[in-house]
Amino acid sequence: MSDISIVPLPGNVLPQSTLQSIFAERLIAWQRQHGRHDLPWQNTRDPYRIWLSEIMLQQTQVTTVIPYYAKFLACFPDVAALAAAPIDEVMALWAGLGYYSRARNLHRCAQAVVEQHDGLFPASPEALAELPGIGRSTAAAIASFAYGSRATILDGNVKRVLARVFGIDGFPGEKRVESAMWALAETLVPAGASDADVSAYTQGLMDLGATLCVRGKPDCGRCPFGDECIANATGRQRELPTARPKKTIPTRRTWMLVLRDADGLAVLLERRPPAGIWGGLWSLPEAADEATLAARASALGAAGTPQRLAPLTHAFTHFKLDIEPRLAALDIGGRPTCSEARDEGNAWVPLEAIDSYGLPAPVRKLLTALKGSLL
Ligand code: ADE
Repeated sequence: MSDISIVPLPGNVLPQSTLQSIFAERLIAWQRQHGRHDLPWQNTRDPYRIWLSEIMLQQTQVTTVIPYYAKFLACFPDVAALAAAPIDEVMALWAGLGYYSRARNLHRCAQAVVEQHDGLFPASPEALAELPGIGRSTAAAIASFAYGSRATILDGNVKRVLARVFGIDGFPGEKRVESAMWALAETLVPAGASDADVSAYTQGLMDLGATLCVRGKPDCGRCPFGDECIANATGRQRELPTARPKKTIPTRRTWMLVLRDADGLAVLLERRPPAGIWGGLWSLPEAADEATLAARASALGAAGTPQRLAPLTHAFTHFKLDIEPRLAALDIGGRPTCSEARDEGNAWVPLEAIDSYGLPAPVRKLLTALKGSLL
């Protein structure tokens, strides 16, 4: 907890050390009274069943998992049956649950348990975490539910609970913040608790995150930490946990030429290459800088220096495009006329007709504004 930012405590909130010391007891009492007790994988200490449920519950809601869990148990009642099944059968049963690498790892894990552990799941979180598809938090959940081990879980729901209750700033996917959360979570697991209390504690963390301390609108009025929670006390439930930082997207800049014909009623468009941005659309002649655009304008028969128009910005998913439009007109004797002439690569298009061309959005905006000011 040393190098992460903790929100300053308002006067009525407990110091962090006091909150840490009451956390497990309060959570266990709440879980016993208000938590979930009848999920199909509860009320058993069979590590096979617990493992199967924990793998299915990674990234998947309880209601979605329930029928799959039942189907798997009916087909593969124990780890040996699953290990012996053809992978195609496992994949077929998993179909619809998503994240299919979980199914492949499930099968590999069952085989590893049979071949390397005599068909018995190991009890320590460290040994469990060596098996395919079992990460640190899942290993802790299995060890805690199956063996009453004082192991620490930290999945997405638990990160949300800890970030809010303890006021932890920083994106939890960031290594520094995640390490600090693991360190905090380890201090919270009840020391010397019975197997049943350890299971209730672990289940309580999951239940709180899934039922009250939810992402959208947490039900702080019913939370066992309603009075102590930093996010609740400071009104920061929506800010905590900190969202993934937005990637800074690069900006590119381009100069576009609006070249009008001698009558001023048509503009020159070019068809863009089929691949790349705006592939195959009609657009304005472009250049990577002002001087190159001026040279292009001159080569196309423009009179004088192109005039500046108001810049535009267009956002793509991976970058932002700043557009610098420049306006020029063909020299008086210049050709062509405003009659619509379209070939493979370019076209003189009457402003009246631009709606029938596939244009990039900012080009359409620019030409529509131009049309409005001229016609
Ligand atoms: N999510 C992950 N593990 C779970 C469990 N054992 N019960 C309910 N939801 C869960």
